[in-house]
Amino acid sequence: MGDIRMDRRGFVALAGAAVAGIAAGGGKARAAAPSGPGASYTFVVAADPHLAENRDGEATGAEKFRRVIAAVKRLDPAPDFMLIPGDLHVNVFDELLAEIPVPVYPVAGNHENAESRERLRALLPDVFQGRDFYAFDHKGDRFIGMCNAAAIDHVGHFETESNTPNVGQVEWIEGEFAQLGGYPRTFLFGHVPPEPAGKPDPMCLAQNDARWLREQVVRVRPTALFFGHLHQRRWFDLDGVPVYGLRSCNWNFRDEPTGFVRVTATAEGCDVREIDTA
Ligand SMILES: [Fe+2]
Ligand SMILES: [Fe+2]
Repeated sequence: MGDIRMDRRGFVALAGAAVAGIAAGGGKARAAAPSGPGASYTFVVAADPHLAENRDGEATGAEKFRRVIAAVKRLDPAPDFMLIPGDLHVNVFDELLAEIPVPVYPVAGNHENAESRERLRALLPDVFQGRDFYAFDHKGDRFIGMCNAAAIDHVGHFETESNTPNVGQVEWIEGEFAQLGGYPRTFLFGHVPPEPAGKPDPMCLAQNDARWLREQVVRVRPTALFFGHLHQRRWFDLDGVPVYGLRSCNWNFRDEPTGFVRVTATAEGCDVREIDTA
């Protein structure tokens, strides 16, 4: 099976290829390997671990996540870090964190209530720095972790009482976007995706939040956005900017396989490849 090669211009055609099944399976990601800003490297995104959710007749949520950890350890080249875009179940994440062989950057999902978010922030204080949303630099690129899930609510919100702080995230992200001048690549990640066409959807960002996000993405043109929450693959684009709605590593709708993605930062943007752990 072929590689998945993604860049802004090529995304639309390749999204079609992915739907046709070309996306799944083996092959090494192709990547240029320049040094300095714009250098190639890899990271992984493991969505919706639901670690405390143990389904009848299946491995436990923790066991399924240990399959992710084992698969990450086998990757060559080793990824630089792991993003986890929500629905972790922090009580079990607390026990597994030390087993993850790379730095971890999680954000909360709708399964994390205010107390869980506080515990998550305490587990990784240098990442969160007291807030549920944050940004970090990696090899000259900018990563923005959004917290757009309200506890319990399947509709996504940037402002909610279960966030710390409960308001102000939109303003903060706009501040981040205003300072991206020197970054060759920018990646955004969060739990709840926008609906591709901006329609009302009970499993997507609230419509006004989605309108704002689309407006920003069209203007700022980040390299890619990653989301969880859907428990199925939904890859699309916002005006040519690739958006990856990811499968869960615990369970998925439509009998889609569990797994995570390996992302290779390339000169053109990024390559995204699914790795099944079922
Ligand atoms: Fe979930
Ligand atoms: Fe969710």
